[in-house]
Amino acid sequence: MLIPNQWYAVLESDEVKDKPVAFKRLGEELVFWRDSNGQVAATEDRCSHRQVKLSLGKVVNNCIECPYHGFQFNRQGACELIPANGINGPRPKIFQLKSYHLAEKHDFIWLWYGEPREQYPEIPFFDELEGFDYGTYRTTQAVGYTRAIENQLDVAHLPFVHDTTIGRGMSTLVNGPYCELENDTLLVWGDFQGNENSVALKPSQMSRPNTPPMLTFKFPNIWTLRIGENFRGMIAFVPIDDENTQMYLRTYQRMVNLPMARDAFTRVSTLSNGRILAQDTRVIETHNPKQGGLKSGDKYIPADRPILLYYTHAEKLIAAAQEQEADFPVAKSA
Ligand SMILES: [Fe+2]
Repeated sequence: MLIPNQWYAVLESDEVKDKPVAFKRLGEELVFWRDSNGQVAATEDRCSHRQVKLSLGKVVNNCIECPYHGFQFNRQGACELIPANGINGPRPKIFQLKSYHLAEKHDFIWLWYGEPREQYPEIPFFDELEGFDYGTYRTTQAVGYTRAIENQLDVAHLPFVHDTTIGRGMSTLVNGPYCELENDTLLVWGDFQGNENSVALKPSQMSRPNTPPMLTFKFPNIWTLRIGENFRGMIAFVPIDDENTQMYLRTYQRMVNLPMARDAFTRVSTLSNGRILAQDTRVIETHNPKQGGLKSGDKYIPADRPILLYYTHAEKLIAAAQEQEADFPVAKSA
């Protein structure tokens, strides 16, 4: 369930160095590379000539060069050279590759999934993480990215999946949770004050807390968790394909500022958050079906409200993108 016309975080900046590199993202085999200015580019990872992988090639003259016959393609995927035809020989348009519009910000590479535009919307992120140090824990989860997202919007699983870590001793009753959707941002407040012997308050019976939200999710694929004033979790849920997700779990901190101690603290807390995520992975990889959604067959309880809001809004964004396409049939067929 990909949402068109969105910026997706797809890689971390340091994953694309001076050589072309292959990654499967959003269901497509892609090759990423950098031009002489360090600007990142991505096209389909398949030469339009005889369909071998371009990622085995190299960057020459700000183009990616196919390892088989030396065809060169620029960052827009246009064929700039067919050596066997001669330097001034023909370069027919049929050799055009599918290319992607990218941006780089916050040490992530972002891919515009949608129709090209004159002006692109702003890249979503969390301003409040400015000035924090961070470490990344990378792992994959063998489920669709919607399942990975719903898992991190789920407050009721904490005392069960994480009974030996963050959920130890936690109340199993969940009041609410109170949540709000503002533009393309979903805010969730956890309320673990419950007593299992009573009846949980429904989300509609809760009022807006005075504290900052515990979870913030920004469409289409980033999330942050407020662990403390100076300590945050952040995840980019990157679709590899319908059944696999690349997780970039960052731990942001500004609790420890002495350089050596800071690095050690960031490293240790990154690893420990990675261990907590592994507890989720073990359970959610057994999902059937591997994508969630309003038509998945899942049945919901009031505590699942953030998940319902996520799917409802995702469907709305998808419908809006489809409507936009219908308004511009020319752009679609071009
Ligand atoms: Fe979890």
